[in-house]
Amino acid sequence: MKVLGIETSCDETGVAIYDTEKGLIADQLYTQIAVHADYGGVVPELASRDHIRKTAPLIQAALKQANLTAADIDGVAYTSGPGLVGALLVGATIARSLAYAWNVPAIGVHHMEGHLLAPMLEPAENRPHFPFVALLVSGGHTQLVRVDGVGKYELLGESIDDAAGEAFDKTGKLLGLDYPAGAALSRLAEKGTPGRFVFPKPMTDRPGLDFSFSGLKTFAANTINAAIKEEGELTEQTKADIAHAFQTAIVETLAIKCKRALKETGYTSLVIAGGVSANKQLREGLAKLMDELGGRVFYPSPQFCTDNGAMIAYVGHLRLQAGENSNLAIEVKPRWAMTDLPAAG
Ligand SMILES: Nc1ncnc2c1ncn2[C@@H]1O[C@H](COP(=O)(O)OP(=O)(O)OP(=O)(O)O)[C@@H](O)[C@H]1O
Ligand SMILES: [Mg+2]
Repeated sequence: MKVLGIETSCDETGVAIYDTEKGLIADQLYTQIAVHADYGGVVPELASRDHIRKTAPLIQAALKQANLTAADIDGVAYTSGPGLVGALLVGATIARSLAYAWNVPAIGVHHMEGHLLAPMLEPAENRPHFPFVALLVSGGHTQLVRVDGVGKYELLGESIDDAAGEAFDKTGKLLGLDYPAGAALSRLAEKGTPGRFVFPKPMTDRPGLDFSFSGLKTFAANTINAAIKEEGELTEQTKADIAHAFQTAIVETLAIKCKRALKETGYTSLVIAGGVSANKQLREGLAKLMDELGGRVFYPSPQFCTDNGAMIAYVGHLRLQAGENSNLAIEVKPRWAMTDLPAAG
């Protein structure tokens, strides 16, 4: 079965084709970073308009890349939530219209389930086996999930305020880094001096698996202001030292909560996914933790950590194969709990 996947939930247009036999056979991505850069954040209306411009050409490019024609496609998957409603409607409308014209089924995919199962796009030896604990760390979510199979999800904990990626972006902005600042902050942190600044590890001094990251941004602002008072304009080294301290606090906080979740479930596999799972210090920190615990951490390749069409095509193919089908209604869910999904297979 060959499934076309379309991702338009936020500021990336992703189109891919997943083949049950051959795996991923096409993957196209267009990022809107330049469109939103002047505004310092995603402008929903501009995002929708850009998805409209880019989706059809990317579908053509994906078909060409896989050396297929429309007649070869057996189903169309699209992100139906959570995300920006206008952006979601673009993907949903195009996907359903194509499926209708091609007389194949269409299926709405949960964006976070896409992130969660993105490590399944890796070569077999790097794919996790159920059950596992998943840490989803993206721009809009920080969640710990008990995963017992496709669609068998239990939310163990989540952020009560900012997501981890959001905290990276906001703190990066405070340090004067260009939008989107999260990845730039992590590059800067690599040059930082460990221990010059120490940030708190929010909510680690009490039991539970929830997170809170908005205080770290305030702590960063206070640290920056104090350093400016001391040394005038911040030097590159001081910025790097602050970035390092911030990143260390996030990584250690996430590791503490992952350890608790693994203990609570008794599972020995940990999956990290979403944009922040591309972070090198986080990957290293969690690999060390899993070494200590005698388990293993799994994560997607960098290009599948952030938004992409491949993860949507993959989940779409799983769910279509499990017999899920849908009617013609073009429906999106800007807010949607992953725990509401049905089990598949
Ligand atoms: N190397 C990195 N270190 C830390 N954060 C990173 C890194 N690379 C990307 N990010 C962060 O990942 C986030 C983007 O990830 P992703 O595309 O998965 O999120 P999103 O789609 O915006 O949110 P959601 O999936 O929750 O709707 C941004 O907040 C970005 O700062
Ligand atoms: Mg995402």
